[in-house]
Amino acid sequence: METIEAIKSWRSTRRFLDRPVEEDKLHTLLEAVQRAPSWTNGQCWRLIVVRNATTRQQLSAASWVESYLAPLGVKANPAAQGLAEAPLVIALCADPQQSGRLWDMDYYLTDIGIASQNLSLTAHALGLGTVFVGCFVEEQARKALKVPEDMRIVGLFPIGYPQKESKLRPRKELAEIVFDEEWGQAFSN
Ligand SMILES: Cc1cc2nc3c(=O)[nH]c(=O)nc-3n(C[C@H](O)[C@H](O)[C@H](O)COP(=O)(O)O)c2cc1C
Repeated sequence: METIEAIKSWRSTRRFLDRPVEEDKLHTLLEAVQRAPSWTNGQCWRLIVVRNATTRQQLSAASWVESYLAPLGVKANPAAQGLAEAPLVIALCADPQQSGRLWDMDYYLTDIGIASQNLSLTAHALGLGTVFVGCFVEEQARKALKVPEDMRIVGLFPIGYPQKESKLRPRKELAEIVFDEEWGQAFSN
């Protein structure tokens, strides 16, 4: 699949078939993260491949952040079921010491963001589905995955074959997000 085709047809997947992910596909996904660019090539990412059903269930439970979701009237993280039912979950963790911090910008989040997009688009190109799950109680996930205190768990990615092709979600028009030469000046193309 062409890169631009993968980007344009990307959609998050939250429900998965009861079908395993082939080992060679998993290997390709891990290599896609490995090849991502990062602050001074620090490669701060660490990945945990989770297949154990009990652990996946614990991660699903961790994706309920009551203080954030309840006031929104949301009863569950929309990805909670997917974390439990996908054959595998990749936890994308970071060692912030291996990335940079400049003018209050923590670049480990940028490093992990780029790595996560490599992971997501590669999964999509391989016919798999995934979703970035960023809303979870980190301490609960830390306990389930035995992640040391000085590491951060940035995202959980349930990975598997989609139950169905979900809808493409809308994006802002280019005119809303692109300026010409300076902030606020309309861009036309
Ligand atoms: C940093 C980040 C955190 C996210 N966290 C969650 C989450 O906790 N649960 C969920 O269902 N989707 C989550 N998403 C997925 C977004 O809701 C989704 O990407 C967005 O609605 C656009 O839909 P699309 O990916 O299908 O195009 C997250 C995405 C990002 C980039």
